[in-house]
Amino acid sequence: MPFDSNQPKFYGRRQGRKIRKAKSGLLEAFLPQIQITPNTVFKKETLFGKPVKRIFLEIGFGNGEHLAGQALQHPDTGFIGAEVFKNGIAHLLTLLTGIKEKKDLPEGSVRLQDCRTDNIRVFSDDVRLLFARLPDSFVDRVFVLFPDPWPKKRHENRRFINPQNLHEIARILKKGGILRIATDHKVYKSWALRQLHARSDFRWTASCGNDWKRPPADWIETKYQRKALAEGRRPVFLDFEKL
Ligand SMILES: C[S@@+](CC[C@H](N)C(=O)[O-])C[C@H]1O[C@@H](n2cnc3c(N)ncnc32)[C@H](O)[C@@H]1O
Repeated sequence: MPFDSNQPKFYGRRQGRKIRKAKSGLLEAFLPQIQITPNTVFKKETLFGKPVKRIFLEIGFGNGEHLAGQALQHPDTGFIGAEVFKNGIAHLLTLLTGIKEKKDLPEGSVRLQDCRTDNIRVFSDDVRLLFARLPDSFVDRVFVLFPDPWPKKRHENRRFINPQNLHEIARILKKGGILRIATDHKVYKSWALRQLHARSDFRWTASCGNDWKRPPADWIETKYQRKALAEGRRPVFLDFEKL
């Protein structure tokens, strides 16, 4: 359920196919342990149950492969994942717990300390509601990977990379922090570059084609990236430094 009755208009899907038993069990028994609630206090020392060196935010994590993979790669970093799509959140929980079948669900609660990684917190709603609660310069990196392209001109106001969201991302990112955008859509690539070039608080870090045509060193493939490659579209990876 959305946290806030002042919901901004969201154009994507909140739920897809019926969620199977194991996943709905995880949504009930495990998600509350890592879910950001209205009572969550945004302090680097306490948000993850232990102090972390830095905080990364992934917006629209989809099935969660990149989020879970990054969290495993960087155990000293705290990850906040924001996603509206319930089936995607449930999929992330299977990646974290290793539980895919109903028979593998333990009797009581699934214990966070038994998970593959304990450094993820989930905001299960529209990230624009989270922005308002995050302190200035709170995060070191923001990932927006394969955002819905909304390619038609008449839908361009639905694109996530827009002046209002960039304003919030610039506010919550530390100086020197990175905003990483990946897209497989030509219209979205030009759109994102135009949006970022119009600002004086971000610098595109690429110095040659390989810097944006090839995945970054710590990249983890996502579902939408696989889909793009299978359909013959080549993704681009755009890193912007917060000045
Ligand atoms: C095209 S999918 C890409 C998913 C994933 N990043 C990947 O690469 O496979 C875009 C995702 O962003 C999520 N999304 C879009 N707008 C959002 C918002 N304002 N807050 C949270 N999630 C959002 C959608 O629910 C969807 O799962």
